Amino acid sequence: MHIEIYSTHNQVTDNILNGKNVIIIDVLRATSVVATALNNGALKVMTSSSIEEAFAKKEKDPSLILGGERNAKKIKGFDFGNSPLEYTSENIAKKSILLCTTNGTQAVNKAKGAKVLIAASFLNIEAVVEFLQNLNEDFSIICSGTNDNFSLDDGLCAGLLLHELREKTTVSTNDLGELIVMPFKNDTFSLIDLIQSAYHLKYLISMGYSKDVDYCLDINRLKIIPIWKKDGFIVLKEYHQFYQ
Ligand code: MLT
Repeated sequence: MHIEIYSTHNQVTDNILNGKNVIIIDVLRATSVVATALNNGALKVMTSSSIEEAFAKKEKDPSLILGGERNAKKIKGFDFGNSPLEYTSENIAKKSILLCTTNGTQAVNKAKGAKVLIAASFLNIEAVVEFLQNLNEDFSIICSGTNDNFSLDDGLCAGLLLHELREKTTVSTNDLGELIVMPFKNDTFSLIDLIQSAYHLKYLISMGYSKDVDYCLDINRLKIIPIWKKDGFIVLKEYHQFYQ
């Protein structure tokens, strides 16, 4: 199995991931929101490429829940921001969500032509690793990044995923993959310590979102695989569902 890692969504040029298996990672916080919302009973999580598009869709379908951020803050007129803690069952069960964020949803938008498209985060990493092991095909990981830069939190999540897969099977990767998996080979390495120096983590804490950060770093809290079907992420219930 070969895993190609992209450092930010900007590295992904038009259509290069069409027909491929793709994992999107935006630990802080978009893919953590996707997993949480679906785990709490949302019907579907769709993505929008602009705020204007989101409002236009809500006008056509007022039952849609709009979620998202700019500079980590809730977008004016949206129902929710990009804090996974807002996506409780009381708020979103049985509803469809349209998410618009700075980096994470842009990464998803670049991979909509993928054969299989999955949202991963620390919250659901074990479930995703198990899925990929069973899939046993090459895939690409887009680390969404922060404002066009590589984000340490996304890179470490991809590194852990790679490490966990290598414990189970033979995996080749590109140079970035070899770099991000390296810390996990060291027994004394502390993921939680290293991740504290991530730029976006520090920014979120400075904006008062430390509870979100703690939540998003809760490894394997959710046993859920968000998979893209037609126009949004839904819960993968059966492993073979997407082959049907
Ligand atoms: C993004 O997509 O850029 C983010 O998830 C930013 C955030 O809300 O922390």
